[in-house]
Order: sequence, then C-alpha cells, then structure tokens
Amino acid sequence: MPPPRELGVNVDHVATLRAQRGTPYPDPVAAALLAVEAGADNITVHLREDRRHICERDVRLLLELLEVPLNLEMSLDPGIVTIALELRPERCCLVPERREERTTEGGLDLVRDEARVREVVARLTGAGIAVSLFVDPEPAVLERAVSLRPAAVEIHTGRYAEAPDGEARALALAEIAAAARRTAAAGLEVHAGHGLHYRNLEALLRAAPVVAACNIGHAVVARALFVGFPEAVREMRALVRGVPRTEAGA
Ligand code: PXP
Repeated sequence: MPPPRELGVNVDHVATLRAQRGTPYPDPVAAALLAVEAGADNITVHLREDRRHICERDVRLLLELLEVPLNLEMSLDPGIVTIALELRPERCCLVPERREERTTEGGLDLVRDEARVREVVARLTGAGIAVSLFVDPEPAVLERAVSLRPAAVEIHTGRYAEAPDGEARALALAEIAAAARRTAAAGLEVHAGHGLHYRNLEALLRAAPVVAACNIGHAVVARALFVGFPEAVREMRALVRGVPRTEAGA
C-alpha cells in the first residue's frame, strides 16, 4: 500500500491580503502553522521575482518553524535559484512566471526552456532538494518532463478546473488521467495543483488515483474566511484522503 496522499496547502493568498494594505497581517507563516496543526502534510509558497505576496522573510521563518516539508514554488530566474540554493527547502517546484499574470497561467515551456530547466533541476537536486516540474497534461510535454528526471511532476489542473461541465471537462480529466499514469509509470511522483476546490477534487482523484500530493491554495484560503483556517484544512484533507491512492500500474 502506498502512503496516504498528501495535502499541500499554499498560503500565498494570505500574503496577498497582507500585501493589499501593506500591513504586517495576516501573516502567511501563522496560517501555515495553523494549517499544519490541522493536518496539512506540507506547505507551499511561491517566492515570485516581484515579491508581490510572499517575501524572503516568510520563507526563512517557515523553514525555521515548520515541522513538515516546505515546497518552494519558483521560476528559473538566476536570483531566485541562488536563494533556493542558499535556503535549501525540502522541495522546489519549478513554474513559469510572467509579471503580468494574476496567477501561474500555464505549465513550463519545456521546448523553449529545456536547457535551463535541465540545469536548474541538476543544481537543486545536487543540493539535496526534491524538484518537481509544473507541466500541462499534454503527452509531448510529459515526455520532455519525464526525460529530465525530476523527483516529481506536478500536473497543471487549471484547464480541468475551468472547463464547463460536460464534454470539455471530461476531456480535461482524461488528459490528466493519462498524464498521471505516464508520470507514475516512469517512476516519478505525481502531484496535482491549480484551481482545485472542494467540489472538483473528488472526480479528479477518481480519474487519477495515482496522484500522491495535491497542492491547493485559493480554495482553502477562501473557505477559511467562513469556517476558519483549521476547519478549511481539515475539510480539504478529508477530501484528499477520501479516494484511496494507488500505485503505478494498479
Ligand atoms: N500548484 C502550483 C504549481 C501553482 O502555481 C499554484 C498556484 O500558485 C497552485 C498549485 C495552487 O493553485 P490554487 O491557488 O488555484 O489552489
């Protein structure tokens, strides 16, 4: 039996609220500690080049205080890579980044950036960091991602999350299921994230039970406004574990 599926809670949007007014609150570090107490298996933050929400102070404090792994989402920017190599979080997830985007809009461009991704994967892996690549669920992209031998592939679930109910959503789900099978068959861990929420998670996990970790932010932070952070995490954790995880080929 594989270990239970992990819930990674992304606390970027707590920092977004803080940045909106330039106040010291709400503190994403405090939110992360509450999330862990409520059962989060790891915490994700995205240290963006423009520092629009998470800042270095948050990453340093999280690394000092957290008793679960920190998953640092990051671009290929040399300055950010230097910070990651200095701070050495347990995990790094490489994502594309554009200043004008509201949130990460697509997966990595492994055609344009293959050489750079290969180099960054090697440097971070050499420093003992488990690296994941955030990619769209497309067969050609998956093949490239797998060939770079990261520890994990995080499948971008945004297209599924945004698809209208019906054929488009079924198609998006089938793409994710195929990408998850391919990743697992290559011996890499399968993660999933972006746009997952309390009502679309179960169908995703039924289609791709091999997913080992779900990284979820916006929905948990939004739900926390009404039921509190611990309860929002507990509810999501129950959903993440509600569909049994399977091994590759099962
Ligand atoms: N995984 C990755 C790689 C992301 O970029 C994001 C968004 O920052 C998430 C997961 C979480 O997405 P959401 O906030 O929509 O749950």
